[in-house]
Amino acid sequence: MVAMTAVSQLVARWAHFYGHTRAVSATVTYLHLVGILAGGGLAIATDVAALRLSPGRVADWPGELDRLAAVHVWVVGGLALVFASGLLLVLAELDTFATSGVFWTKMGLVALLLGNGYVRLRCEIALRQGAVARWSWFRRTSLASLALWFLVLLFGAVLHSTT
Ligand code: HEM
Repeated sequence: MVAMTAVSQLVARWAHFYGHTRAVSATVTYLHLVGILAGGGLAIATDVAALRLSPGRVADWPGELDRLAAVHVWVVGGLALVFASGLLLVLAELDTFATSGVFWTKMGLVALLLGNGYVRLRCEIALRQGAVARWSWFRRTSLASLALWFLVLLFGAVLHSTT
């Protein structure tokens, strides 16, 4: 009970601080956009390169697969920044976002994006182990990733204009 009161007081203080200090709200929004630009930008470039990759087209496909996989850590870093700044944005107007259908749709799409990323990782591991049948899933998850990044971006923009 005491802990819950402390947390709700902390959230109320953050909401007040965020709402009354332009530099703070601008910085948090900026960090959200930096995470999207860095994580999303690299993810999209990798997805496009992945769609061109196949054993028939690229002789050293395992090497190319490794080069694409090396980008994952930057995408995950960008997503971590997006999540941390997104959480601060939510806490600044908790009641508004908790009841927003657009917000929860966006969160559902983010969950799909993460799930798709996991399936894509499993595909990459299977391909390295020689499971040729996984190429079609590798392509499907690359296409899904492209579509999901743009959809989440769309719902982020709609969220901004509806709240
Ligand atoms: C791939 C992930 C994400 C993308 C591409 C994305 C994209 C965006 C965009 C473009 C905006 C509008 C920025 C602006 O205010 O001008 C936005 C706002 C927002 N995002 Fe995200 N977002 C992502 C993940 C998240 C997550 C994980 C959360 C919550 C934990 C979150 C919470 C919010 C909130 C609350 C706003 C509204 C801020 C406002 O009032 O304008 N976002 N997002």
